[in-house]
Amino acid sequence: MELALDIQNLQKKYADGTPALQGVSLQVPKGDFYALLGPNGAGKTTLIGIATGLVNKTGGSFKIDGIDFDAHPEKARRKVGVVPQNLNVDFFGKVIDIVVNQGGYYGIPRSVALPRAEALLTAVGLSDKRTTQARQLSGGMQRRLMIARALIHEPDLLFLDEPTAGVDIEMRRSMWDYLKTLTARGVTILLTTHYLEEAEQLAKHVAIINKGTIVADGTMDEILARYDEAQQQHKGYRGSRLEEVFLQLTREPEKPS
Ligand SMILES: Nc1ncnc2c1ncn2[C@@H]1O[C@H](COP(=O)(O)OP(=O)(O)OP(=O)(O)O)[C@@H](O)[C@H]1O
Ligand SMILES: [Mg+2]
Repeated sequence: MELALDIQNLQKKYADGTPALQGVSLQVPKGDFYALLGPNGAGKTTLIGIATGLVNKTGGSFKIDGIDFDAHPEKARRKVGVVPQNLNVDFFGKVIDIVVNQGGYYGIPRSVALPRAEALLTAVGLSDKRTTQARQLSGGMQRRLMIARALIHEPDLLFLDEPTAGVDIEMRRSMWDYLKTLTARGVTILLTTHYLEEAEQLAKHVAIINKGTIVADGTMDEILARYDEAQQQHKGYRGSRLEEVFLQLTREPEKPS
């Protein structure tokens, strides 16, 4: 099986001593739709930061499309695109320029980048906002702009850190449809989300991370098979099966009162 991303024993200890990743191994097959799920502070954004070269790891190794990141960082980095959790964008720039200029970082000439950017903006439903300043977009529109920007250099592996946070239902659905067309074309997607029903419907593989450690990973069916009726707490809101498995694996044990 060819792997788009192969992470071995990844570790990250931040300067203040926070152990954000404690030996994470993760294999993402090519063309997969892979969901990395975990509670707040589990280490998801840290993992994506490392895999996209924005954060330095403190241990372990990883390969992108077979390329060892430490040996060939630039070559590896060119293969990935990322939509960060915290939007980083020139808010005074125009939508079309933001996408085209991103191509500049990868040495893509404007004549190539411009039609590509137009097509990407159409795909994410922003073609009528092409000359609008980013600061005048709504939050969900800004996130869609980030997706278009992340794709300008046609990456093989796309990291989406909560791409649908704050995106309305209709647009979210069309975004998922669009992301599925990308995977159909062979792009590999790794995303994080707190909307587990969406992940349950869309992802082929899932990993659940808690406190910097992978607590479960496998195909969606394998993860759902871990659902244990006996562990159910039969009170209050009941979520999807994936939600219940997620909670069973990540919930803090109840403290005796
Ligand atoms: N720059 C930093 N310096 C120190 N600690 C950090 C830094 N960034 C993140 N952390 C810590 O690392 C841990 C993992 O954070 P991370 O942002 O990776 O979590 P996450 O899974 O993305 O959470 P969320 O679902 O809230 O986005 C947390 O304990 C967090 O406080
Ligand atoms: Mg995060």
